[in-house]
Amino acid sequence: MPIVVYVQKDGTETRVDVPEGTSVMLGAVQNDIGGIEAECGGCCSCATCHVYVDEAFAARLPPPEEIEGELLSGVAAERRPTSRLSCQLAVTAALDGLVVHMPDTQY
Ligand code: FES
Repeated sequence: MPIVVYVQKDGTETRVDVPEGTSVMLGAVQNDIGGIEAECGGCCSCATCHVYVDEAFAARLPPPEEIEGELLSGVAAERRPTSRLSCQLAVTAALDGLVVHMPDTQY
């Protein structure tokens, strides 16, 4: 099962086995990882699942769909080139070891 590494603002890392096809957001919520609120439950309407994808992986992800791009314009924390909505990122075997960093805030 692929591993996703969630990095908190203070640098704390949590490594979680996330089944393929599961979103990075669900991998966090189902394992009680803080820092991702996911108020809309993953239907891409809240932007409270914002993460910064580690640069080593950012280019390996499919680009954001239009709706994700629009929501990223309204995230509460600083938007960076590696900003993504974690509910839109499906875990795959090719992404084993994916590292995502939590933003300062989701609100
Ligand atoms: Fe709401 Fe991702 S969980 S946009």
